[in-house]
Amino acid sequence: MGSRGTWSDGRRAERIVLIGAGVAGTALATALRRAGLRVVAVASRRLASARRAARLIGGAPAVCRTPEQAARAGTLILLGTPDRAIGPTARRLARAGGLCPGHLVVHLSGALPASGLPVTPATAAALHPVASLASHARAVATLGSGLYALEGPPAALRRLRRLVRALGGKAVTVPAARKGLYHAGCALASNAVVAVLAAALHTLQAAGLSPAAARAVMRALAGSTWRNVEEIGIPAALTGSIARGDVPVVAGHLRALGALLPALVPLYRELGRVAVEVGRAKGSLKRDPASRLRRLTAPAGSPATRSVPGRQGPRRSSVSRRRAAPRKARRSRSRA
Ligand SMILES: NC(=O)c1ccc[n+]([C@@H]2O[C@H](COP(=O)([O-])OP(=O)(O)OC[C@H]3O[C@@H](n4cnc5c(N)ncnc54)[C@H](OP(=O)(O)O)[C@@H]3O)[C@@H](O)[C@H]2O)c1
Repeated sequence: MGSRGTWSDGRRAERIVLIGAGVAGTALATALRRAGLRVVAVASRRLASARRAARLIGGAPAVCRTPEQAARAGTLILLGTPDRAIGPTARRLARAGGLCPGHLVVHLSGALPASGLPVTPATAAALHPVASLASHARAVATLGSGLYALEGPPAALRRLRRLVRALGGKAVTVPAARKGLYHAGCALASNAVVAVLAAALHTLQAAGLSPAAARAVMRALAGSTWRNVEEIGIPAALTGSIARGDVPVVAGHLRALGALLPALVPLYRELGRVAVEVGRAKGSLKRDPASRLRRLTAPAGSPATRSVPGRQGPRRSSVSRRRAAPRKARRSRSRA
């Protein structure tokens, strides 16, 4: 950034407007202002949210009662609403005359393509902060030098890259037609990891570990695994029973889960099948154990599982078996 109002190459800098003052939008606007850009107006569904965001962003942006009033003050309009409100907000702006040629309307969703957003005569684009943003202070720190996935027409992408450079961040571009797939990948890299760790925590505690001990085990494993992924990449980072082709150990895991936590068996199998292919790509898992592991981890009831001798599907836990026993005894007594 040059002085406030111009880029270092002398172009006029954007006047930024935030519509939808939630966690992501407010943190991004704050980071942009701290990077030297002008945030000129804020609007939200509730006036109180817009006022709070204006305080957090700093620099006294105008707090507007309607989105169209805010949009008229700027050149680059950030839509920080939830995904479901992006289309209706854009339509409202266009209908109410809040948009002019030269306006760039930018939503923050990773899932929705910007093309097709009804913003005529403005242009639409998307800037997806590739981060999990939970609270304002942490989100501002993350966004300051974060990663952003951009999507939109070339001229819009040039404007967005300037913003990302001003933030000290990095940008990747995503084709509009693959936004759904891109966002599914993001969900696997973030939300699914948390879900798998929740299942791991539950399993470790069912094995008798205290919550603190279970967290320590997870930290040690998830931390060292992530460092391996960073340093040597996938597939080399895969270790463990599947990577080594230890079929009896994997069968033991399935028996142990089946006995006490049968609801987790399908998850273990699904992830196991993916791990088998990673192990094959790594080269440490040989063809024969890979075939046995594929059968062992096939979905319950599939032809592959029926052909595995001694395979046990999800079983009732020993606790539920114990509970069922007196009922059975009662039934046979009443028949007698
Ligand atoms: N949070 C993340 O980790 C994250 C990461 C990357 C991308 N994103 C994207 O960022 C966007 C916002 O997510 P968020 O997590 O920041 O959501 P959020 O905290 O729920 O904030 C959304 C805000 O939008 C406002 N809003 C709702 N409907 C509106 C409407 N019709 N007009 C104007 N404002 C409206 C709400 O305002 P009021 O308070 O006034 O009701 C709310 O504060 C989404 O597109 C999301 O996909 C989020």
